[in-house]
Amino acid sequence: MIGLDLSNKRALVCGGSKGIGKAIAMALAENGCSITLIARNETLLNGVLIQLPKNQNQQHDSMVLDMTDLSSLEIAMKNLVLLKDFHILINNTGGPPGGRLEEASIDAIELALKQHLMAAHIITKSLIPGMKRYQYGRIINILSTSVKQPLDHLGVSNTVRAAMANWSKTLANELAVSGITVNNILPGATNTDRLQDLILKESTHQLSEPEKIADKMKSHIPMNRFANPEEIAWAALFLASPIASYITGINLPVDGGRTRSL
Ligand SMILES: NC(=O)c1ccc[n+]([C@@H]2O[C@H](COP(=O)([O-])OP(=O)(O)OC[C@H]3O[C@@H](n4cnc5c(N)ncnc54)[C@H](OP(=O)(O)O)[C@@H]3O)[C@@H](O)[C@H]2O)c1
Repeated sequence: MIGLDLSNKRALVCGGSKGIGKAIAMALAENGCSITLIARNETLLNGVLIQLPKNQNQQHDSMVLDMTDLSSLEIAMKNLVLLKDFHILINNTGGPPGGRLEEASIDAIELALKQHLMAAHIITKSLIPGMKRYQYGRIINILSTSVKQPLDHLGVSNTVRAAMANWSKTLANELAVSGITVNNILPGATNTDRLQDLILKESTHQLSEPEKIADKMKSHIPMNRFANPEEIAWAALFLASPIASYITGINLPVDGGRTRSL
């Protein structure tokens, strides 16, 4: 029966050592997928590897890589695809620091473009030939609701997400005929280290208690709460599965209703 079964499939989960990436890796593995994780911190990666379910004899592994180091990333990807085929790719990494765009340096914009757009391009290009051979590919990009509505004090992030969204839509058009879908998940405020960092920085900036900043953020969300990372992961699990076969080129907000546009 076609469903969420991902046995005999392998996913590359970037930024998989914590937060949304880790939750996605867990959800995919719970449904039979073998996982390769990427992040910089080897200790955290090893911790996730131990937790990933293996009840369908999956083989999980990880690679320590910095996604801002594009030349190392390119070499690592070339070697990786000689050893394994991938059916699912989760393009995900740490978010750029917050702040107003008018104050952002060129270096900050360049770094974010490297870590997000260019790293995703290198990784995706490496995996496409294998996905074409299998006539099964699910490329899922973890972006932000700022694709639809720019967020205050996230100037560099807003800029890079827009670039990623058009990159993704273009790829979706090019790859649709090969059985490869390309979709974006737009998380709202999600309870991870990233969100806690942003709240702490905003509380320093506004000279206010972190709890008050968090409450104000929640007041803009119709569900009046932050997401758990698992709630983002369930959307990724669906898009990665065989039953999402006719969905490509979309932006899926998972934000408790925060985005006010259609
Ligand atoms: N949390 C939210 O509220 C929220 C909302 C909207 C969008 N998002 C976006 O969703 C994505 C994931 O967010 P998150 O909250 O899960 O963040 P997180 O908890 O900070 O996790 C980020 C992950 O990316 C890895 N990473 C960071 N920099 C890296 C690099 N240079 N090379 C390789 N791996 C790197 C981290 O591991 P290492 O540090 O070990 O490398 C970690 O595994 C981000 O783009 C974020 O902006 C988050």
